[in-house]
Amino acid sequence: MKILGIESSCDETAAAIVEDGFRVLSSVVNSQIDIHAQYGGVVPEIAARSHIEVINPVIREALTRAQCSWDDIDAIAVTYAPGLVGSLLVGTLAARTLAILRNKPLYAIHHVEAHVYANFITESNGSTLQLPSKQPEFPLLALIVSGGHTQLVLFHGHGDYELLGQTQDDAVGEAFDKVAKILGLPYPGGPSITAAAEHGDPEKYHLPKAKLDNPYNFSFSGLKTAVLRAVQHAVGKDFTFPSHELPRLVNDVQRADFAASFQRVAVETLVERTLRAYSDFAPRSVVIAGGVAANQELRRQLSARLPIAIEYAPMKFCTDNAVMIATLGFFHAQYGTPADPYALDVVPSLSMVNTAWNSAKVL
Ligand code: KG4
Ligand code: ZN
Repeated sequence: MKILGIESSCDETAAAIVEDGFRVLSSVVNSQIDIHAQYGGVVPEIAARSHIEVINPVIREALTRAQCSWDDIDAIAVTYAPGLVGSLLVGTLAARTLAILRNKPLYAIHHVEAHVYANFITESNGSTLQLPSKQPEFPLLALIVSGGHTQLVLFHGHGDYELLGQTQDDAVGEAFDKVAKILGLPYPGGPSITAAAEHGDPEKYHLPKAKLDNPYNFSFSGLKTAVLRAVQHAVGKDFTFPSHELPRLVNDVQRADFAASFQRVAVETLVERTLRAYSDFAPRSVVIAGGVAANQELRRQLSARLPIAIEYAPMKFCTDNAVMIATLGFFHAQYGTPADPYALDVVPSLSMVNTAWNSAKVL
């Protein structure tokens, strides 16, 4: 069964074709990072306009690269939640139109849940990507870490999962992005902090770890503020000094040490909560998902400290893409119900645990 996946929830326009929920036939991602980098973050109006310009060519290219005609496609899967409303609308309207014109079932996919399904890809035609050797097994513990989300979710089966804990304020990716801005490192902050941290001392600055009542919850805004205060202090200024003027006062050694110290604490926090959930729920598999799952330090620490083997999706399937949308679309086609292509609406903010698909509780 071949599923065409379409993704446009933030600043990536993507289309992919995945067969049977594990084999990638094609994946096309048009990133707008260069456009938004000059503003230090995603500008919603620019993102929506850019999606409109490229969505049709991106979908066409996905079909061409997979050597598929429309007759070969069994269903269309599209991100309808969560994300930027203007961005979501472009992909959803394209998918609805194609589903009607080409007479294909349409599946409404939750973007954050789809990140988890990047771990179900075990084959990719014509690529040399290092992929997991097998699909994860249920019960499955997922650490979801992206620009907008930080959650620990326990999956009992497809469409049957519970939220164990989540961030009470900033997402971890957001913390990477904000700390990068304080240090004068380019957007997106994750990769640039990691690069700067390579030359830094992770023990140089002692930054706090949040203590919360629920052992699976997270909080990163205190850590971000602690970095801000420590940087102000390091350059001889007080807490009233504006953060946007800090980058020109921080030297390269300080920048590297702050990046490494922040990354260490952020990653340790993620790993400690995941280990706690692992020992409490004894899942058969653990996966990490979302843009921050590309972080090498997170992978290194988890592999070292988890008592079971963990496999990782390649970086290009961790950041936003349509492969994960098509993969989850396959499982919707097996166990779920198609959406109405005349009525499917976008939902800019919706927790994955509240989707209609999850209440299906199918094993
Ligand atoms: O999942 P994603 O591509 O977009 C959504 O938020 O849905 O995640 C983007 C986030 C950004 O905050 C970016 O800074 C972070 O993922 N990120 C990383 C790395 N690569 C991307 N964070 C830490 N280390 C990385 N290597
Ligand atoms: Zn994402």
